[in-house]
Amino acid sequence: MAPLGPIALFDSGEGGLTVLRTLRQQLPQYRFLYGADSGHFPYGEKSLDDVRQWFLAFLDFFVHRGASAVVIACNTATAAALDEAKARSPVPVIGVVDPAARRAAEVTKNGKIGVLSTESTYRSRLYPRTLKALNPALMVVAKPCPILVSMAENGDTEGYHVEDKVRQCVEPVLETGVDTIILGCTHFPHMRQAFNRVVGQAAAIIDPGEEVGVALAAAHIEVAPVQSADDPITAWTTADPGRFTEIARKLCPEIPLIAEPLMWQGPSLAAPRASLLDNVPTNLG
Ligand code: DGL
Repeated sequence: MAPLGPIALFDSGEGGLTVLRTLRQQLPQYRFLYGADSGHFPYGEKSLDDVRQWFLAFLDFFVHRGASAVVIACNTATAAALDEAKARSPVPVIGVVDPAARRAAEVTKNGKIGVLSTESTYRSRLYPRTLKALNPALMVVAKPCPILVSMAENGDTEGYHVEDKVRQCVEPVLETGVDTIILGCTHFPHMRQAFNRVVGQAAAIIDPGEEVGVALAAAHIEVAPVQSADDPITAWTTADPGRFTEIARKLCPEIPLIAEPLMWQGPSLAAPRASLLDNVPTNLG
C-alpha cells in the first residue's frame, strides 16, 4: 500500500495557523501540510464565488500532493466552498463552521450566541443557518470585524491598541446578552488574550480550531506518523514565503514551518521549485 500523506490545512493567510497549532497539540501523531492563498488575502472582502474557485484549486493541489484529508481552516472558504469541496474530493474535507456551531449550541445556557467573522462569512449567513438548524430556538447576533483580520495577518496581536479594537468589536455583541461568542474567523484566536480580557466571565469563547480536532479524530483518517515533533511543516503560499515565515514565527514560534512559493497560473496553482524539505508522499499515483 502507498504511504499515506499528511493532513492539509488551508487559509487565506496566517489565520489557519491557530487551527494548526491546536491540531498539533491534539493529534501529535499526525503529519501536516499548510496552504495559504496570501496573494488573495483578505478573503473577507472578496466574493464567495471567487473564494470558492481559489479554494478548489488548493484542494486539487493538496490531493495531488497526497493529502489524507483537508481541513478548511478558514471560515470564509468554508462558507464559500465546503459543499462543493466535499462533493468532488476523494479525501475527507472538514470545515470549521459546523464543529464550532455544534460546540456553541452545547455550551450556551441562555440560547443567545454571538458570532464574530469576516464580511463574507457574515454575508453568507452560514453561522446563523447552521446554528438554527441545530436548534431553531437559538438567537444569533453576528458581527463582521475586518479590522482584526488585517491586524492579525500582520502579526499585530498584542497591546492596548489591539485590546481597544477587540473591545469595539465585542462590546456591542455582549450588550445584546449573548452568553457564548464564536471566534468565527481563524485569525481571531491569534488575539485570544485580548478576547479573554475583554470578554472576561461575561460569555464563553468558542475557538473553531479546538473543535476541528474532535471532528478529525472522529473521521478515523490514516496518516503516516511523524518522525519527531520537530519535523518541518511545509507552508505553501501564493505571496512572499519570506514574509509568511517572518509573521508565522512571530505568531506561532513553536511551529517548525518552512514556507515555499506557489504561483497562480490562470485558475490553477504551480510550485515553481520542488522543496528539498517537502517529504510529502503521494498516495494518488
Ligand atoms: N481566516 C479566514 C477566516 O477564517 C479569512 C480571513 C480573510 O482572509 O479575510 O475567515
